[in-house]
Amino acid sequence: MASPSPSTTHLSPLTCCSSSSLSSHHSSRRTKFEFPANSQRSSPSPIASRAGAIASPSSSTPGAASSGDHAPVRGRCFANPVDRDLSELAAGDRVSRRRRKLIAVAGLAATLPFLLQLRGYTEGIVADAAELDNDEYTMIKEEVRKVVSKVKAAGVLRLVFHDAGTFEMGENSGGMNGSIVYELERPENAGLKKPVKILEKAKGEVDAKRPVSWADMIAVAGAEAVSVCGGPTIPVVLGRLDSMKPDPEGRLPEETLDALGLKQCFQRKGLSTQELVALSGAHTLGSKGFGNPVVFDNSYYKVLLEKPWMSSAGMPSMIGLPSDRALVEDNECLRWIEKYANDQNLFFKDFENAYVKLVNSGARWRSL
Ligand code: HEM
Repeated sequence: MASPSPSTTHLSPLTCCSSSSLSSHHSSRRTKFEFPANSQRSSPSPIASRAGAIASPSSSTPGAASSGDHAPVRGRCFANPVDRDLSELAAGDRVSRRRRKLIAVAGLAATLPFLLQLRGYTEGIVADAAELDNDEYTMIKEEVRKVVSKVKAAGVLRLVFHDAGTFEMGENSGGMNGSIVYELERPENAGLKKPVKILEKAKGEVDAKRPVSWADMIAVAGAEAVSVCGGPTIPVVLGRLDSMKPDPEGRLPEETLDALGLKQCFQRKGLSTQELVALSGAHTLGSKGFGNPVVFDNSYYKVLLEKPWMSSAGMPSMIGLPSDRALVEDNECLRWIEKYANDQNLFFKDFENAYVKLVNSGARWRSL
């Protein structure tokens, strides 16, 4: 199969709009935002100049210079001029501190309307972005639902891991960037051309209305695959950018790794042992023998605890990958396997969180 065309224009209307068109587009729901003109900035605001007058030393110690040695300074008399000087110094210091405070308050008061405008403006952008994302999200989900049936769900979910799983924290490279479309000839990606082909159709439909990245497409499709099979509903944030080249090779875990190897591999991707165990629950889908192949539930963990592969012959001995079997031999993993086997809601919750982390790994985001 020819490599699917990577999306070359992933700029959403958010990034492609000029600031003027953006502001007119959003003007109905946003306070108009203007920087104060230079002339306005250089002349003190009425508040600031009034505060300056209040805070000036002459106005704060009226008559002090002409009232003689024994003149009261803030209500006190001094026989010794040195005492008075020191006290005046201290008073002056208090005044200047007070003055600094007043100026700061006045400055804040002067900038407050500006800051509020700015807040109104940014809130407007965020609200509009969320609205845009919502429309975009609904559209992507609708197109995905048309092509991802229960029987196709397993392949689509696996695609997510094979795109995101190339992330290495230390190198800060790889991750959820759609590069899987360039990596389909790699042995570890055997079988993934089909799910890419399926999603390509949906992507074409979405692209016709608003360009979407492969990374977003795959992230949303994986979540829908889980949900269509009865798993949790996982909300996915949009805005990932696609890479234009394949990620480095050899980053995905070999199925022959033992538990320590799997833990270390996931750790390099910023994923904990608990997240390794939760995400491996994805193997409940597909043909590895963990319950109904098209139902996303916690049967993966229940079957792991039974260790059917210990059976001397027949189908049960075929169940699970070596990596699945390795998990149950590790005490730390076993604790999570037991928890998830006993509590499907906990598995769903932890799977959701780990999935969100996975699809955000190494992602580069379009800017607002
Ligand atoms: C822990 C390390 C993992 C290893 C070593 C591993 C390896 C494998 C292998 C060898 C297969 C069989 C492919 C085939 O049938 O030819 C498989 C299937 C699958 N993997 Fe993983 N995987 C791992 C983690 C994950 C994760 C984190 C996910 C998703 C979150 C995932 C999702 C799937 C799915 C859904 C299938 C079934 C695909 C199908 O039947 O079409 N895997 N995996």
